[in-house]
Amino acid sequence: MKIIGTGRAHPSQVVTNAMLEQFLDTSDEWIKTRTGMSERRVISSEKLEDLASEAAAKAIEDAGLTAADIDYIICSNVVNEYITPGLSCIIQGAIGAKCACVDVNAACSGFIYALDMADDRIKSGKAKNILVVAAEEPTRMVDWKDRSLCVLFGDGAGAVVVTEGEGLICSRLTTVSKTDCLHYVRRLEPTPYITKEEHSAPMYMNGKEVFKTAVLSSSRDIKTLLSEAGLQPSDIKYYVLHQANMRIIEAIANWLKLDMSHFPTNVERCGNTSSASTALLLDELSREGKLQKGDKILLSAFGAGFTTGACIIEWTK
Ligand code: UT7
Repeated sequence: MKIIGTGRAHPSQVVTNAMLEQFLDTSDEWIKTRTGMSERRVISSEKLEDLASEAAAKAIEDAGLTAADIDYIICSNVVNEYITPGLSCIIQGAIGAKCACVDVNAACSGFIYALDMADDRIKSGKAKNILVVAAEEPTRMVDWKDRSLCVLFGDGAGAVVVTEGEGLICSRLTTVSKTDCLHYVRRLEPTPYITKEEHSAPMYMNGKEVFKTAVLSSSRDIKTLLSEAGLQPSDIKYYVLHQANMRIIEAIANWLKLDMSHFPTNVERCGNTSSASTALLLDELSREGKLQKGDKILLSAFGAGFTTGACIIEWTK
């Protein structure tokens, strides 16, 4: 497959570190030095489905197609107002497409899992033009009284349209079942047959453990893909990494012995937007004219599961 269009949509509400200082025992200095974040966009009056549909429509327009040309939709999403139907079904209705739709939940790695699934479906001849959307509202999963978590996240939606082509050089997906360090549990409806106490709890994350696992697993994925593609670190124009923490991105840049010009970021403006982060960044780079035909881009993400996804793409647009 190859990417032929990109789009994104952000919530209108900007929440700066100074705004968080007003109701949390935190400081702009702590948040900036520990995470690199200055502000984030947070869902308020809009719905995630509206942002997802806006990003999708922009990607389809950028690809020079119409919704009628899309023959499969994959949406990477962890939570939204609906448990069912999937967000992809809602997007389909909003943009006026008629194709089959499916959601994938691989946490923050979901966009890369979805790209990989799209590639398989195109290779099998079952679809030609696929819309891949990553839409996330992690700010609805955290306790806003918990300073260790709520300052970290932002919401948003990024999208791409992919079609037949030679744009995906290689990819790597891994999962190690490890639910203790990062999870979010929802209460289910009671039944006469359930005797255990049901509970719902905001997101839990052991930040230090996730930080270490993230740096190690992302570095390992990058090394494996570079070697598989026969490329040197400096052959990659941009490393589009999951935007969870500027220090994670800097640690990977140091390990690769590359300067930060290879590592575009939006974490300082958007916070951690889960699987949307890499999709948002790709659209930013494309719309700012920073991607030229033939550029090699490496995407790498990690998230709850513990999942990791990485791929090298050649920009063909
Ligand atoms: O996308 C999903 C994957 N998630 C990630 O990749 C996140 C990975 N982890 C991280 O990015 C970092 O571990 C965090 C940013 C979450 C935390 O940074 P840290 O350097 O590991 O800090 P810490 O959790 O060890 O906390 C250090 C101190 C603690 O105080 P004491 O115990 O040393 O007195 C915390 O209570 O900082 C305190 N603290 C805060 N202080 C001010 C925690 N949150 C805050 C806060 N403001 N918002």
